[in-house]
Amino acid sequence: MKLTRTVAETREALEAPRDAGERIGLVPTMGAFHEGHLSLIRAARAESERAVVSLFVNPTQFGTGEDLDRYPRDEARDAAVAEAEGVDLLFAPSAAEIYPPGFDTWIEVGELGEILEGAARPGHFRGVATVCCKLFEVIQPALAYFGRKDAQQVAVVKQVVRDLALPLEIRAMPTVRDGGGLALSSRNRYLSAVDREEALKLPLALAAGVKAYRDGRDAVSVACELLKGIDVDYVTIADLDGPTLAAAVRIGSVRLIDNLRLEEEAT
Ligand code: PAF
Repeated sequence: MKLTRTVAETREALEAPRDAGERIGLVPTMGAFHEGHLSLIRAARAESERAVVSLFVNPTQFGTGEDLDRYPRDEARDAAVAEAEGVDLLFAPSAAEIYPPGFDTWIEVGELGEILEGAARPGHFRGVATVCCKLFEVIQPALAYFGRKDAQQVAVVKQVVRDLALPLEIRAMPTVRDGGGLALSSRNRYLSAVDREEALKLPLALAAGVKAYRDGRDAVSVACELLKGIDVDYVTIADLDGPTLAAAVRIGSVRLIDNLRLEEEAT
């Protein structure tokens, strides 16, 4: 596996494969790999000749007071995992490489970027959209892989790709869950054992909501009922790349998001 740090060496490393007509599959990540990331990497490997992973904790998608400083970072472990998974190239740039002095060009996402996570985290999707566009431009993938756990992110990135006519396809992969049904997230490691028990109510509430919807009942009120006693940020139905029951809750100091598609997923 090749490890690159700069835009120039990444472009150079991918020039020959691209010229040879090889398809590049990109998995953009912020590291702290778990099975969810691995499912994206495996999909990229299965569908493309070159699997590229980017590892960059993107400062511009974190708001003031959010967890940028304590976001889990273990590049050596992530690199070993990527190598074992057969990744061809790991692009792990510094913040100054992505945002050099004087950087001042941004992708502003419209209404979709302002609701739900965008309302709770102003500027979040501007940061996500900008870094994704830059990664797409540097790596020029034919395919890029995102997890449906971040359903709004998938919808935003698809909208950016559509609106700017970017020449790649976005693949949205199913949420990977642990044995209790909790959606895997790098932030789950902040949950204490007691918090984790509480957190398991989130997927249960969403599953009950989806069942209620399919039975012709109100998904949101059924899910809210099961989340009583938890600090709920939102539970709502939104068009996030398809009708989706989405929720965000706070458990201790951790903000968790999860969602289920109303028309496809049962659990
Ligand atoms: O989902 C993430 O890890 C990040 O939002 C992404 C897509 C890598 C952009 O920084």
